[in-house]
Amino acid sequence: MCEDRAARELLHWYDRHARALPWRVGPADRAAGHTPDPYRVWLSEIMLQQTTVAAVKGYFERFTTLWPTVGALAAAPDEQVMGEWAGLGYYARARNLLKCARAVLADHGGVFPDTREALLTLPGIGPYTAAAIASIAFDRPETVVDGNVERVMARLHDHDTPLPAAKPALTAFAAALTPEERPGDYAQAVMDLGATICTLRSPACGICPWMDRCAARASGRAADLPRKTPKAAKPVRLGYIYVGRRADGAWLLERRPGKGLLGGMLGWPGSDWSGAPAEAPPTDARHWRDGGAEVRHTFTHFHLRLALRIAELPVDTAPDRGEFLPQHAFRPSDLPTVMRKAFDLASPQLAGD
Ligand code: ADE
Repeated sequence: MCEDRAARELLHWYDRHARALPWRVGPADRAAGHTPDPYRVWLSEIMLQQTTVAAVKGYFERFTTLWPTVGALAAAPDEQVMGEWAGLGYYARARNLLKCARAVLADHGGVFPDTREALLTLPGIGPYTAAAIASIAFDRPETVVDGNVERVMARLHDHDTPLPAAKPALTAFAAALTPEERPGDYAQAVMDLGATICTLRSPACGICPWMDRCAARASGRAADLPRKTPKAAKPVRLGYIYVGRRADGAWLLERRPGKGLLGGMLGWPGSDWSGAPAEAPPTDARHWRDGGAEVRHTFTHFHLRLALRIAELPVDTAPDRGEFLPQHAFRPSDLPTVMRKAFDLASPQLAGD
């Protein structure tokens, strides 16, 4: 079948050019009988949701060093896992990561289920991730469609319907190409093609293993595809953030509620984030002064601008919100990025110890 030939051509390229990635069992090792560890495949796929390979690598190495098995991760304290995830964003992933690890222990005897359907029942595993794990970890012929794969399919078929409307068609193209043989390697091969050759800008069509069968290369439109429906501009939300330090060096921090944006993460007390926020100092308002800076951060659906308030607080301060964390127990790396930005702006202005 013509489709199988396309898959074979790509696998032939992958055998020579597969990226070495810390969670991957490369094609040579796989041919020699090494199978991927489903725990590492799952962890990498959760980390790679909406996040680049470059950003994920270091986090993946650290997590698998700290917690080499799903059992070890399931037994880890929530605060430690949230702290290690800090900076990677989309913190619901970390909350679900723990839920999933604990469900694998409680409901599956510590062994990841090996089908897409069973994987889908686990917390934090949606259709994409279930297909990716079933394919990569268990070599099942599932169709794996991420942004890279969409781009490759749009170009291969010179398909100019804009995303997201094009998703069903691009998924059907991808499904038709998925082979019965080596589906796990094939899924990773399409991802690698999208990441290294069929790139967003300036695709390297001249060295592409699919150059002869690519309709967009023939029409000269590869670099213009896939088309995208423009997104609405993000609104700006405003707020206040309060970075306070006690005379003994302790920092006034709070753990955010378990649900919602930055849920479960450590942070500085603040006001609500809205069009017209009110000041909400966590201790006597007279302690706080203007920190002379604005903390700016962009989330998926809005831009945030927080006016920085700072304070040197007396040792007998009883805060209305939050708790003092002694200097030795505070790791700035435990903070999500927006909170870390506030710390970086405030800390040079706050004496301690
Ligand atoms: N993006 C999502 N999953 C990936 C994987 N397994 N390898 C490389 N990039 C990816």
